[in-house]
Amino acid sequence: MTIIITGGAGFIGSNFVFHMLREHPQDRVICLDKLTYAGNLSTLAPVMGQDNFRFVKADICDRDAVYSLFAEEHPDVVVNFAAESHVDRSIENPAIFLETNIMGTAVLMDACRKYGIQRYHQVSTDEVYGDLPLDRPDLFFTETTPIHTSSPYSSSKASADLLVLAYHRTYGLPVTISRCSNNYGPYHFPEKLIPLMIINALHDKPLPVYGDGLNVRDWLYVEDHCRAIDLILQKGRVGEVYNVGGHNEMKNIDIVKLICKALGKPESLIHHVTDRKGHDRRYAIDPTKIHEELGWLPETKFADGIKKTIQWYLDHEDWWQPIISGEYQQYYQKMYGSRG
Ligand SMILES: NC(=O)c1ccc[n+]([C@@H]2O[C@H](COP(=O)([O-])OP(=O)(O)OC[C@H]3O[C@@H](n4cnc5c(N)ncnc54)[C@H](O)[C@@H]3O)[C@@H](O)[C@H]2O)c1
Repeated sequence: MTIIITGGAGFIGSNFVFHMLREHPQDRVICLDKLTYAGNLSTLAPVMGQDNFRFVKADICDRDAVYSLFAEEHPDVVVNFAAESHVDRSIENPAIFLETNIMGTAVLMDACRKYGIQRYHQVSTDEVYGDLPLDRPDLFFTETTPIHTSSPYSSSKASADLLVLAYHRTYGLPVTISRCSNNYGPYHFPEKLIPLMIINALHDKPLPVYGDGLNVRDWLYVEDHCRAIDLILQKGRVGEVYNVGGHNEMKNIDIVKLICKALGKPESLIHHVTDRKGHDRRYAIDPTKIHEELGWLPETKFADGIKKTIQWYLDHEDWWQPIISGEYQQYYQKMYGSRG
């Protein structure tokens, strides 16, 4: 089987590339990534020389580039992680989110229609459901919860989901969608909450927490998300949406305090800053469908996952230091620039 993984130089995509190469060594894995600020080719260095792995630098919005890759490789499966993914950036500049997250998805699905495909899988987010009130802990998002987005990011992801379902109904494209809660783990870009707090705390820098910090997120260890997508590819029903989450709700402020404690840093580093515009209060996923239909359950408890994650950042300063300095963006140029 040949699988194209878009956005495989980013956080979850790279973890999924490693997962697939480890769990399905007979498959050929092609990573297509534009290497935006969030894509880091050095992440993929451990697999770069493998015979069954190929990296292609391209934009999912570039129809010619996507079609020629499909013509050359004839993929059996496409898993689309490629996206602009940071809510704060979407508030500053929504246009690029519409371009990549919606138009890029359409280009990939057009290529699937043109060249044929066994499965197109769209990696989506629980943010398409909007938020839940803090005083109703009995409420969870199910797959039938109405789409009700808050930010340009979540609106672009929801638009893509609707388009994916429309391509299934209109053209019979064999699609599946997963909507996952917040991920954490290795290779998480340092501007996101958990790595930002770990790295700032290590440097005794202020830990900026939006508003009162009481916003609740449902956290899932990234490898559990990768296993869920793998299972959906193998056993998921075409045309279906699967929610993925671990019933692991945490207040942002509690996560930051936990990181301070683990690193032996004082909570006085915590610094409340003006809240994000339209900040969602609570996300909580009901993962009953994927559990009952596909037998998926998260394997990593938050207490263990956060310890592993903190340790990973302590051990991999060589990965995050070049990102913080901006140096990593020259990596591709250095490795491949002269090879055209
Ligand atoms: N991070 C989370 O907690 C989370 C939770 C649920 C769903 N998701 C979804 O999972 C996917 C991956 O998220 P992430 O956190 O790994 O994101 P990320 O920002 O770390 O990585 C995105 C990757 O996509 C690439 N990319 C961006 N635009 C591209 C384009 N036009 N063409 C080709 N490649 C492009 C980037 O270079 C980068 O490698 C996204 O679709 C996101 O919406 C993320």
